[in-house]
Amino acid sequence: MRFFIDTASRDEIRTAQDMGLVDGVTTNPSLMAREAAPWQEVAAEICSLVPGPVSLEVLALDTEGMVNEARDLVRFGPNVVIKVPMTADGLKAVRILHSMHIDTNVTLVFSATQALLAAKAGATYDSPFVGRLDDAGHNGMEIIHEIRTIFDTYAFSTQILAASIRSPLHVRDAALAGAHVATIPFAILTRLMRHPLTDVGIELFLRDWKARHGADT
Ligand code: E4P
Repeated sequence: MRFFIDTASRDEIRTAQDMGLVDGVTTNPSLMAREAAPWQEVAAEICSLVPGPVSLEVLALDTEGMVNEARDLVRFGPNVVIKVPMTADGLKAVRILHSMHIDTNVTLVFSATQALLAAKAGATYDSPFVGRLDDAGHNGMEIIHEIRTIFDTYAFSTQILAASIRSPLHVRDAALAGAHVATIPFAILTRLMRHPLTDVGIELFLRDWKARHGADT
């Protein structure tokens, strides 16, 4: 399973890269808006920092506008993936971008049928929003299972990108459900490696060592 980091923060990306945890990046307009620097500068730096796929989202709501924005966004690097909302116009844009050999990530997917439509349109990635579904009282992880079954049954090459990840449990369950990728916020990435018993274990080992050898190593 690949790990993308869900952020536009270059500091977070660099720190996570040092831990070997960044196979790609997903951004969205809300994440971009948190950065102080102009978005063009942010996008350009992320694309050069990360060799893997970097999702940059269009703002237009009509097909023509989305395709025009995509033409500009792909200039940031060969690793740019165009993030398009799951709408009728978005699906038309995905078809056009697919014919232009431009990778796409269909975002704001909340059902298996929406994911099926995105795959049929030729999307490279399909982003079901697990956390937001949970927030709305559904079981977000269920649709990852459903999408995986549909994609396997019909041999779609579209990759399932589990998005809106809110906890280490979401990461575990997305992996078990067969998501190809999880896009994970920095705070969750760092929590993945922690366990209280690991800390207790380190403390005990050091205590026993010091009891026998003093402070010498
Ligand atoms: C996906 O690519 C989105 O950027 C993201 O996962 C949204 O997550 P949120 O629901 O925590 O905003």
